[in-house]
Amino acid sequence: MSKDTLTVTDNRTGKTYEIPIQNDTINAIDLRKIKVASEDFGMMTYDPAYMNTAACKSTITYIDGDKGILEYRGYPIEQLAEQSSYLEVAYLLIYGELPNAERLKWWEYRISRHNFIHQNLIDLIQAFRYDAHPMGILISSVSAMSTLFPEAKEVDDPAVREKQIWRMLGMIPTVAAFAYRHRIGRPFNFPDNSLSYTANLLYMMDFMNQRDYEVNPVLAKALDVLFILHADHEQNCSTATMRGVGSSRVDPYCSLSAAAAALYGPLHGGANEAVLRMLQHIGNVKHVPDFIDRVKKGEGRLMGFGHRVYKNYDPRAKIIRKVAYEVFEATESNPLLEIAVELERIALQDEYFIARKLYPNVDFYSGLIYQALRFPIEYFPFLFAIPRASGWLAQWQEMLEDDEQKIMRPRQIYLGEARRDYVPLDQRS
Ligand code: CMC
Repeated sequence: MSKDTLTVTDNRTGKTYEIPIQNDTINAIDLRKIKVASEDFGMMTYDPAYMNTAACKSTITYIDGDKGILEYRGYPIEQLAEQSSYLEVAYLLIYGELPNAERLKWWEYRISRHNFIHQNLIDLIQAFRYDAHPMGILISSVSAMSTLFPEAKEVDDPAVREKQIWRMLGMIPTVAAFAYRHRIGRPFNFPDNSLSYTANLLYMMDFMNQRDYEVNPVLAKALDVLFILHADHEQNCSTATMRGVGSSRVDPYCSLSAAAAALYGPLHGGANEAVLRMLQHIGNVKHVPDFIDRVKKGEGRLMGFGHRVYKNYDPRAKIIRKVAYEVFEATESNPLLEIAVELERIALQDEYFIARKLYPNVDFYSGLIYQALRFPIEYFPFLFAIPRASGWLAQWQEMLEDDEQKIMRPRQIYLGEARRDYVPLDQRS
């Protein structure tokens, strides 16, 4: 009869251990009973970059990387992108279920009631140089919010937590818009609560007192779909940071600021910016084969390709590719699109990329859309961070409510010097 256990024989001692299996996983702590001598610390697992370690149980996002499946709370990403709105998806991530019409209205109202930012934050944004990277402004502004809302420290109080969630989802787009207006030297536009979440963002960035100003609904909808696709992605680098920093019970502004810093890196949310720079560097479709050859020789990466989890086409990239064509119909076509399509065509039939299961990821086409919406390249990671805030906060809340979680504290294998005595300075060679 089959048993949900793993039998391990330690060949150093000949001893056999039976370890329980749950959810196709063993508890790493169960390995600690494997020892040679009773005073030993016990066996650990070594897993740099957490390639094969589950650090939590979660009910938020499901990914099957081999099949290219992404679901939020059980709903396929394709259905949400087609039928939902970003704020509805944010509600789903935070509360676990889709809202009914009344709850959705309430939720949209709660977020919109918190989208004005404190004058101190405006002063902070204005203190940056005009060309400061927007992610630096985001990271600083969110950590500064921690000083404005000291009650946020009460992380074990669900009502306090909920209020900080409304505040962050409300205020982060305003910080994005104000940082942009500061950069271009134009006065700020305060939020217009008659507009949707994404239309309001575009309005705050663009409005210049034009008569009959209207946000282009096709562009606001495209941005909304991009926001849905970026809202959560289970235990990626920035989400693991949000959980890890939050596990010290610091307030959520500090945790989210740290998560945003993790997102900023070019291997993570900074990849959309890196893709655009790569396409600009290639410059012409006829240079694509040469560029691919250089990538294969290890002289740089094909940015926007490859993923730790997806070993198949990233389902988000499929949806984004379609949105890109819709946006280009409403705006001017982007000459870089031709280069991107050619890169994808060649890479998908090249043995190097096939053997390593490298497919376009979410960032491959998103930058082209952001550029068509006339966002400066440096803003692309910020446009990833705005929607990812809902995923970070959902995961943070889940971590706090999980009795099995404690302060995050990985182990190490110490390979340094053995104990030795201090040598006074005048006796060192
Ligand atoms: N171009 C060329 N070769 C690549 C690429 C790429 N984009 N990605 C991976 N490889 C190669 C890599 O050189 C290695 O080859 P070899 O086995 O010969 O040494 C093999 O594929 C495995 O790569 P890895 O670095 O061990 O894979 P990883 O799981 O650690 O990295 C990744 C995942 C996303 C960091 C990586 O694929 C990458 O750097 N991609 C480009 C950056 C990018 O687009 N990032 C956005 C990720 S999606 C959005 C997000 O979650 O933020």
